[in-house]
Amino acid sequence: MSEELSELARRRGFFFQANEAYGGVAGFYTYGPEGAALKRNVEETWRDRFVTREGNMEIDSPTVTPEPVFRASGHLDDFDDMLVECPECGESHRADHVVEDNTDVEDAESVPTGEVEDLIAEHDLVCPDCGASLVGQPVEGFNLMFETTIGPGSGQAGFLRPETAQGMFTEFPRLKEYARNQLPFGVAQVGTGYRNEISPRNALLRTREFTMAELEHFVDPESEGPDLDRVADVELPLYPVEAQQADGEEYVHLTPHEALDEGVVAGEWVAYFLARSKQWFERVGVDMDRFRFRQHLPGELAHYASDCWDAEGEVGGDWVELEGVASRTDYDLSKHEKHADDNFTVFQAYDEPKTVERATVDPEMSYLGPEFGGDAADVADALADLAARDRSAFDDDTVTVEVDGEEYMIPAEKTGFEVAEETESGRHIVPHVVEPAFGVGRAVYTVLAHRYDTDEVDGETRDVLRLPAEVAPTTVGVFPLMDKDGMGETARDLAADLREAGLAVTYDDSGNIGRRYRRQDEVGTPYCVTVDYEGLEDGTVTLRDRDTTDQTRVELDGLAELLGSLRDGEVS
Ligand code: GAP
Repeated sequence: MSEELSELARRRGFFFQANEAYGGVAGFYTYGPEGAALKRNVEETWRDRFVTREGNMEIDSPTVTPEPVFRASGHLDDFDDMLVECPECGESHRADHVVEDNTDVEDAESVPTGEVEDLIAEHDLVCPDCGASLVGQPVEGFNLMFETTIGPGSGQAGFLRPETAQGMFTEFPRLKEYARNQLPFGVAQVGTGYRNEISPRNALLRTREFTMAELEHFVDPESEGPDLDRVADVELPLYPVEAQQADGEEYVHLTPHEALDEGVVAGEWVAYFLARSKQWFERVGVDMDRFRFRQHLPGELAHYASDCWDAEGEVGGDWVELEGVASRTDYDLSKHEKHADDNFTVFQAYDEPKTVERATVDPEMSYLGPEFGGDAADVADALADLAARDRSAFDDDTVTVEVDGEEYMIPAEKTGFEVAEETESGRHIVPHVVEPAFGVGRAVYTVLAHRYDTDEVDGETRDVLRLPAEVAPTTVGVFPLMDKDGMGETARDLAADLREAGLAVTYDDSGNIGRRYRRQDEVGTPYCVTVDYEGLEDGTVTLRDRDTTDQTRVELDGLAELLGSLRDGEVS
C-alpha cells in the first residue's frame, strides 16, 4: 500500500499499530472509529450475502479450543510454516518469503523444506534484517497456533483457534439436528482467528489476530448441486493450475456453467461460491480489474483440502489472497467422527425404501473351537468388514484376514457367511464440505487500496476514498453553511433526525465548507448535505456527491428515504 494511504489510515482513524504506547508488537492492529465502522459494514454485507440470502445459519463458538480438537483436525501436526533463523541477529523469517522476495520462484510455500534450503544456497540468500548469509541454515516447520492452558495450575492444554471452521465442525452433531438432518445446509461464523505468524507484514494483510468470515457448506456429494442458473451471468476470472504452469499464460474468463463444462472447476458448489464471492467482492469495492481466482498448486493445498481456489486482489504490485474456496471433502467430519464421542453422520432417507442384500458372518465364531481364544471376536469383526467390502472373498475354500499383524486363514464354511435380503430406508453419510473462507482485514485493506484516489477539485489536489456507499463508515455529512442565524440548529436537528432514521451521520461545523467536504472525502463519505440561507427559507438543503462533487438542491422532506435508497442501491 502506498505511503499516503498508510498515513491516511492512521491520521483519519482507519487502523494503526496496537499498543504503541508500550512499543507495540508486530502483527496486531487496532481499527479506529472509521476502520471499525468500515469493517462492520463489510461484515454485514458478508452476512447478507452468505447467511441471509443463502438461507444459512450463523453460530458463535469459543476462540479457546481444547487440544484434542486440533489433534483430531490435523492442525497440531500440519499447521506449520517454514522458518529459517538468522545465525547472526537471531531473527526468524518465513523461508518461503525470503525465497519469493529474492528470486523469481513464485510459490515457494509449495516446495518441500529441503528444496527451500537448496534455493537459499543456490541464490546465496541473506537475512532481510541484518544481511548475514542464510546458506546452510536448517529450514524447519513452525506450528502457527498460540498455545494456552485452560484453568489454574497446569490446567488443560488449549489453543486459540487458527480458523473459525473447527467450531462449525465440532458442533456438527447439534447443528445437523437443528437442520433436521437435511442436506445441504450451511453454517457460517464471523470471528477472530489467531496465527502466530513468523513474519507479520503489510499492515492488515498478515497479522497475528484477524477476523475471518467462513461458511462451511455441508453437502451430500451424490445429490444435486446448487441452481447455477442464478449466477449464470457472472464471469469468473480464473487462473487454473495449467495456466500457472505454462509460463506467461493469462487467466480465462468463464461463467460457472462454462467453467464446469470445460472441466476447469471441479464441483458445482465450488463454481457457485466463486460466483457469489466475486459478486460480494465487487459489492464492497474491490476493483474487478485487479481481481482473479487462482487455483492452488498441488503442493500448496492445506492438509484438509482436495482442491482450492483463492480469490486474489492486486495490491501494490502483488497478488494478495483474500479468500479461499476449498473442497474439504469429508476430511474434517470423518476425523471428528473417529476421535470424538459423538455422531458426525447424517441419515439420508431414500425416496422409496430399497431392498438390499447384506452379507454377514457369524459374530461369535463359536464353531471355530476354543483354540481361537480371545481373538475370535476380532477375527469375526475383520471377516464382517471383508464381507461388507468384498463378498467374492468368501467364494474360495479359505478366507484370509489379518488382525493385529497376524494372518488368519479360516475355512469358508466355518465363517458363518450368509447373504440376506433387507429393506433399507436410507443411508448414513459423512457430509462433504465446501468452504468459502474470507479474511475480513484483507478485504478491508484491499478495498481501501483500490478505492483510494487523488484528483483535482477547484484547482487543489484532494485525497478521496471512493468507497461504495453501503460500506462507507459515514453515509452523510451534515453541515450548516455557518453556525449562525439558525443554520446550526437546523443542521443539528437534521443530523439527529437522519440518525434516528438509521443513517450513519457526521455533523461538522468547524472550518470553511471546502475543508469540511475534504475531510469527508478522505474518509469516503458519499454524500454531504449543507443547510444554507436559501434552505432556511424554503425547506431545502444542498446534496453533494463525493465522486462528482456535483451539488443539487433537495427537499428536507423525504431526505432520509432518499439517502437510505442511495446507500442501499441495487445489490446482487
Ligand atoms: N478455514 C480455512 C482457512 O482458515 P485460510 O486460507 O488459511 O483458510 C482464510 O484463511 C483467509 O484468512 C485467507 O484467505 C486470508 O484472507 C485470511 N488470512 C489468513 N492468514 C491471515 C493473516 N495472518 N492475517 C490476515 N488475514 C489472514
